[in-house]
Amino acid sequence: MTKAIFFLAIAGLALAGCGQKADNDDAPDVAMATPHTYSDAEKAAIQATFPAPYNTADLAAGETQFNKCRSCHTIGADKMNMVGPHLYGVFGRKSGTEPGYTFSEAMTAHDVTWDFDTLDAYIAAPQTVVKGTKMSYQGIKDETDRHNLLAYLKLETTPYAPPAATVESASSAN
Ligand code: HEC
Repeated sequence: MTKAIFFLAIAGLALAGCGQKADNDDAPDVAMATPHTYSDAEKAAIQATFPAPYNTADLAAGETQFNKCRSCHTIGADKMNMVGPHLYGVFGRKSGTEPGYTFSEAMTAHDVTWDFDTLDAYIAAPQTVVKGTKMSYQGIKDETDRHNLLAYLKLETTPYAPPAATVESASSAN
């Protein structure tokens, strides 16, 4: 019994040792405990899995772009609808289907699954792509601005799943 506990303690030390190549020893644990606080290494690892050009987009610039949407949309896990539907989990969601929000007939009829391509087209020209949408926003004409925004949106609105292998390889790259 005592031996087993001793062994576990040694194993624990060994594990702690090999996981700590990064400067901030606490970072991985903190990120696990608070789902929406990604470390920079995690953000980079997740973004690397996005298709081009979103894998190299500027997330900070995307966050600034999102200020254009904030007055009408939330993106957090609390799923709060405002003037527009909340955008948590919007990637992979069918247009106009989020329960608890009343969409226009135009958006319900739009019938696409939101992904990088369909969102990019919609955000470029909402009223042209979904004629009759009640989203009274003129759209973002600049392609780079849209790419940055959508990379940020994908990261922030995708429910958190601990990417164990990805985090490991990202931190050993430091
Ligand atoms: C003035 C308010 C307003 C602004 C600003 C706005 N939206 Fe919207 N958005 C809406 C409304 C209202 C709807 C519902 C549209 C409908 O039913 O036709 C909507 C719908 C959407 C949808 C479809 C969601 C779904 O579940 O089908 C997406 C995606 C979206 N907006 C993204 C954005 C993004 C990204 C921005 C910022 C670039 C933005 N919106 C800016 C009001 C707004």
